[in-house]
Amino acid sequence: MAIAVYPGSFDPVTMGHIDILERTSQVFDKIVVAVVHNVTKEALFTLDERVDLIKKSIQHLPNVEVECFNGLLADFLRARDATVIIRGLRSITDFEYESHMSMMNKSLLPDIDTVFIMSNPCYIFISSSGIKEAALLGGDVSGLVPAAVEKGLQEKLQRYLFKTK
Ligand code: COA
Repeated sequence: MAIAVYPGSFDPVTMGHIDILERTSQVFDKIVVAVVHNVTKEALFTLDERVDLIKKSIQHLPNVEVECFNGLLADFLRARDATVIIRGLRSITDFEYESHMSMMNKSLLPDIDTVFIMSNPCYIFISSSGIKEAALLGGDVSGLVPAAVEKGLQEKLQRYLFKTK
């Protein structure tokens, strides 16, 4: 059984990520989305909220599971018997960063490979930070994030506005 892991901070998950999952879930038997606590990024959504938003957005993908993890990605793969890391590529800048990460992961666990999927051109300009900034300033992000995320962003915005009144 070919098991792949799709790691990221997903703060929040976007249609760009969902598109990658829709396409790769047809290639692998099982995909585990690994929601990482990235210490270098200040998060808007808690880990549990991020997992919940992804679960609500992938109900049409029965072979995709979601978990959070802390630590080394290579250890997570080993523990799940996974042999592949999935990464999306939006631009040449992504490629440079991704190629180094893939080599580092390969040196930590030689049995694993990283599979790169080109982003759908419709979503190439999206990032989680861009979505958060636009939504929290009142911009319309419908079509760029799943419906559950749009609702989650609205709730965060309401809470923020309430606090600042
Ligand atoms: N569509 C839209 N946006 C996308 C995207 C896509 N297909 N792919 C990535 N992005 C966005 C993300 O939303 C994110 O946006 P943000 O920076 O505004 O939050 C940005 O691109 C970067 O995403 P990503 O590269 O996935 O960063 P990350 O922080 O989400 O994940 C890890 C990085 C988790 C994979 C990496 O830090 C890791 O493996 N950590 C574990 C520790 C470890 O093992 N380290 C050694 C390995 S080198």
